[in-house]
Amino acid sequence: MYVCLCNGITDSQIREAAESGCDSLRDLRRELGVGSQCAKCARHARQVLRDTRNAM
Ligand code: FES
Repeated sequence: MYVCLCNGITDSQIREAAESGCDSLRDLRRELGVGSQCAKCARHARQVLRDTRNAM
């Protein structure tokens, strides 16, 4: 499912990034571009990130 429509980033990609060490929205923005445009995805992206990190 798409989380960041502006950049075409899915929840799977965010999960992979989290498993590879991303642990903040800033990291996600740098790695994938998430939240770099309208930023409407920020809340959802942060939730996916947190859920993934908590499950590790
Ligand atoms: Fe992510 Fe717009 S939906 S920056």
